[in-house]
Amino acid sequence: MMPGLSRLLHRDTESGGFDVAVNRAHRYLVHVESGLLGRIGVMVRDLAEQQGADRLVLVADRGAARHHLPAVDAVLEWSGLARETVLVPEGESAKTTDGLDLLWHALHRAGTTRRTLVLGLGGGVVCDLTTAAAATYMRGIPYALLPTTLLAQVDAAVGGKGGADYQGAKNLIGAFHHPVAVFVDPELLRTLSPHHLSNGLAEVVKVALIADPALFALLEDGVGRELSDLPWEAIVRAALRAKLDLLGPDPFEQGDLRRLLNLGHCFGHPYEAVSGFRVPHGEAVAAGLAVATGVGLATGRSRAQDADRILALLTDHRLPITMPRELRPRVWDELDTVRRVRNGVLHLVVPRSPGRCTVVDDIPRSAFDEALARLDTWSTR
Ligand SMILES: NC(=O)c1ccc[n+]([C@@H]2O[C@H](COP(=O)([O-])OP(=O)(O)OC[C@H]3O[C@@H](n4cnc5c(N)ncnc54)[C@H](O)[C@@H]3O)[C@@H](O)[C@H]2O)c1
Repeated sequence: MMPGLSRLLHRDTESGGFDVAVNRAHRYLVHVESGLLGRIGVMVRDLAEQQGADRLVLVADRGAARHHLPAVDAVLEWSGLARETVLVPEGESAKTTDGLDLLWHALHRAGTTRRTLVLGLGGGVVCDLTTAAAATYMRGIPYALLPTTLLAQVDAAVGGKGGADYQGAKNLIGAFHHPVAVFVDPELLRTLSPHHLSNGLAEVVKVALIADPALFALLEDGVGRELSDLPWEAIVRAALRAKLDLLGPDPFEQGDLRRLLNLGHCFGHPYEAVSGFRVPHGEAVAAGLAVATGVGLATGRSRAQDADRILALLTDHRLPITMPRELRPRVWDELDTVRRVRNGVLHLVVPRSPGRCTVVDDIPRSAFDEALARLDTWSTR
């Protein structure tokens, strides 16, 4: 069995109670290889053996299923495991407690026990739902992921964050529960629309800006090429390495790491929210990265040539670098709400240059306005 060691340590307290410490070690492999799908049946069989699992529940969204379920079904024959398939609707609207209920119900119907392995096939929505369902069903059952969108391959499939949206708020319900394996096959991205590719690319640019100047340069090399022609295996592997490096010291995202990974989201989340979630997450993050870059310029924290590189990369990959004028005051109002919740501090992450970011406690409204004015000028050059 893959080591998943737990220790419960306790000692008596002076008041006659117990001081309890829980240590858990959990390891898993993230396989990254173009064409990996062909070997997944055997890999899942070995994984099930390690986990002591004797059956499989495959969870897929209808979009991923349309393109990849027949091939996945065919290779899973090699696992020799009894299996059930559950289809969930595609898109963010499925990431609700109703979506979770659908999965719990299917797991129950399939006679799921702790000896059942769940495998999620799809984008970030399936990764989040599968993780949350596996975290909660029988207080935690093993699961693996086979992510099929760029966003899921570089971000949602690793880190163990599961969740569902609730009452209009993103990811309000959820839990940390790490997978037992992740199978990343960049070949699966070939069927992804350019829109969803560039959506995921925003998160790749984010992680490159935080931690990996070489990845940033690799993305710059791709400028002028069709998105489908980029070296996705190298990009996905580098983005995953950067994310895992960042998660290393803080796997439950409780410290400064969370702040850094918030790059682009400080402005992107409010923008996404005030657009009524009509602006896709990746586009909102890209605009948020651009505004953070503009803030760096407006407050003298970034140099013009570094800001130029960041803005050029975003525009060259057809990602937005600004926000509609009519929404800007509302974005600022949203930031004000966040500021109040955080006792007057915003913790804005500002990129200085690829691989170097800084956290700024707060900015005045004038810096936000100036950042957007600079982006307007930059866009019309
Ligand atoms: N858990 C985390 O750490 C984390 C990190 C980032 C984002 N997320 C979450 O991820 C979600 C967004 O994920 P997403 O952008 O992958 O969206 P998504 O899961 O909705 O997938 C986008 C669309 O692509 C389709 N699709 C999936 N794979 C395909 C393929 N190979 N070819 C063609 N179409 C395919 C899907 O059916 C869907 O219609 C959000 O809910 C976000 O909150 C989670």
